Amino acid sequence: MVVVGTGVAGMSAALHATGRQVVMLTKSAFGAGGASPLAQGGVAVALGPTDSPDVHAADTMTAGAGLCDAEVVRVVTNEGPARIAELVEWGARFDRRADGTIELGREGAHSRDRVIHATGDATGAELVRTLASGISSSPRVEILEDSLVVDLLLNRGRVVGVVSIDREGRPLVVTAATVILATGGIGQIYSHTTNPVEATGDGLALAAAVGARLAGLEFVQFHPTALEGSGRPMALLTEALRGAGAVLVDDRGRRFMKGEHAMAELAPRDIVARTIAARRRQGRRVFLDATDLVAMASRFPTIVDLCARQGLDPSRDLLPVAPAAHYHMGGIVTDLEGRTSVAGLRACGEVAFTGLHGANRLASNSLLEALVVRARFGKDLAIIPVLVSHS
Ligand code: SIN
Repeated sequence: MVVVGTGVAGMSAALHATGRQVVMLTKSAFGAGGASPLAQGGVAVALGPTDSPDVHAADTMTAGAGLCDAEVVRVVTNEGPARIAELVEWGARFDRRADGTIELGREGAHSRDRVIHATGDATGAELVRTLASGISSSPRVEILEDSLVVDLLLNRGRVVGVVSIDREGRPLVVTAATVILATGGIGQIYSHTTNPVEATGDGLALAAAVGARLAGLEFVQFHPTALEGSGRPMALLTEALRGAGAVLVDDRGRRFMKGEHAMAELAPRDIVARTIAARRRQGRRVFLDATDLVAMASRFPTIVDLCARQGLDPSRDLLPVAPAAHYHMGGIVTDLEGRTSVAGLRACGEVAFTGLHGANRLASNSLLEALVVRARFGKDLAIIPVLVSHS
């Protein structure tokens, strides 16, 4: 089996392919590049005493503006708790309360506290650490770094491998019974983006070239609060800050989201992003005010560090924000086992379109989706050796 991409989706797919020989290709360095290590907020999962998968599903459907696939939403929200228990078993260290239970944060459009997190706001890095240690200790997974996949090999309508090139342009052919695309999103096509340099839509292009069905490509999520002036990609100011009480104000000091939506700053992400964009088009600047948050350094150490690089202290300064491309809801159409419309080709993570997110992904549902889908498709992959040949 070949896995293209080494983020949370790709790594967990490789780990779940029990007993199979796996070659993973990444165009950057294993465990370092891509969007996964940057993920701050966390994983949405119904663990709270007043929560349930049904409530989580209802919030997902509302945020998705009626375009989610209800059955996919049901399955993913139901299977979330088991996937988290498994990660804990594999050594993931999520933040806990004094009584030992996992701490749950709030993000936009969630009606309950249900976002689990690690080291405050470094959840992606913790998931990558957990999965990467499993991969590194597995003798059946080979990792090829600096390998850009440029083509899928087709034989009688079936994908049977990939062609990649290294930094010097030297080609490599890897044949396998199954190719899994876990290449992430497309954010780099936007000038304002939180996405890393790797997010160039490679998987979509590879899949389209072999005729795979794509859907929902028009749905691109803009995160409302990227830190203005922080470069490209822009630094993300996690929605969990608003979940903990931070508010949005304009340059006259007016808190404007209250007049826009009943959930104010915690309205669905698309609504908050559009409201901020409209203010900016009117020539106003927008700021996140986190000055009243307590325990900033321990709950949001990544944010404190990102702000310090811009000479800002969130406990004292207003943080200038702008919407930035953050997540692509559209992608390669798959079922919940990752199957695409082309035999031999699967996809998971941001590059895939399962129907979970509809027109607007509910915050922190993406890592959850990656964890659930890979666990389901690990089961029925053929055990056939992978052949690597330098051509
Ligand atoms: C955030 O931490 O605000 C982003 C979480 C997400 O994109 O789901």
